[in-house]
Formats: sequence, C-alpha cells, structure tokens
Amino acid sequence: MEKIGLFWGSNTGNQEEAAGFLKEYMESEGAQIDEFNIADTDPKKMLDYKKLIIGCPTWHIGELQDDWDFIYEKYKELDFSGITAAFFGCGDQVGYADNFLDAIGLLGKPFMQNGGKLIGRWPTEGYEFDNSLALDGDEFLGLGLDNDNEEELSEERMIVWAELIKDEFEL
Ligand SMILES: Cc1cc2nc3c(=O)[nH]c(=O)nc-3n(C[C@H](O)[C@H](O)[C@H](O)COP(=O)(O)O)c2cc1C
Repeated sequence: MEKIGLFWGSNTGNQEEAAGFLKEYMESEGAQIDEFNIADTDPKKMLDYKKLIIGCPTWHIGELQDDWDFIYEKYKELDFSGITAAFFGCGDQVGYADNFLDAIGLLGKPFMQNGGKLIGRWPTEGYEFDNSLALDGDEFLGLGLDNDNEEELSEERMIVWAELIKDEFEL
C-alpha cells in the first residue's frame, strides 16, 4: 500500500499528541504512515508522498505554529499537483473565537492553489466561534480539535475523521 506522509508541528504538545494518536489508529486499520516533525524536516520532503496528512495548531492570534511559520514561504512555493492531503489542527474556540483554526486555512488554501486535492473537510456544527480562515461554507477545510475546551471530544473526532479520510484517500 502507498505510504502516507504525516507532517506536524507543535509548540506545547497538543498537535504532537493528536498526530501520534492518528498515526497509531490509522496503522491499526492497515495504513502505513511516515511521521515528520516539520521543525526538523525540509518541506520539500512532502513532495515524496502522493498522500499527505498535515497537522498545525493556530498560534499568536491567527498565525501558524512557529515551525510551520518558519518554512511557510517555502511551503507556498511547492507544486502540489497530483498530491491529495488532509489537514487537521488544534485551536481554542473560546479564547480565540475570531481566529479559530486559522492555520488550517493558511496551509490548506495555498495547497489547493498549487494544484493539490484537499480532502477531509469537517462540519462546523458543534463548535462555537465567530470567525476562521479555515471556513469553506459550513465546513472547515480540515478537522478541528480544541483540547483547551473540549479535550474529551478529541479522540472520537479523530476516529470519525480517520475513517472519513481513509475512504477519501481510497485506502
Ligand atoms: C498565545 C496563544 C495564541 C493562540 N492563538 C490561537 C488562535 O489564534 N486561534 C486558535 O484557534 N487557537 C489559538 N491558540 C490555542 C492553541 O492553538 C491551542 O492551545 C493548541 O492546542 C496548541 O497546540 P500545540 O500544543 O500543539 O502547540 C493560542 C494559544 C496561545 C497560548
């Protein structure tokens, strides 16, 4: 089976933990996943994979997590033609209601503009926030996790999303 590249960044461990859970769950279902912390990975490595999972929390009021921010200009120059990717991100809908999950939009939109096929959209139903760059109609461009306010929902959300992207990846 074709391997999936899972690229994540994390300042305080929530996104890292989520990436670990997702990898373990998807591998238990038969997927093969190579995992990379973007802090010590050349962004060009993403182009080695036809299927990507990209994880980034939103930081500093509507910004990318620090390591993603550091490579963002390079990321925006990558040609994602022929690549399918699913995005997921941690955020805080209470503390940052105007910028909830912005990082998913900041990474997902250039991915699509540069030829990539985005899968794994996720309904906004059940979240309370005012605005987000991750919005596309009544969906987010990827899975939103809020460990600051709803940690108890995160595992179930990841399992449902993992099943969804498994289908959309045609695994
Ligand atoms: C200074 C600061 C700024 C933040 N800004 C945002 C934001 O704009 N939007 C959002 O959804 N979450 C925001 N968050 C919440 C983080 O995304 C959330 O805590 C996340 O789980 C952190 O992930 P990490 O532990 O992987 O770094 C912010 C948190 C801090 C401490």
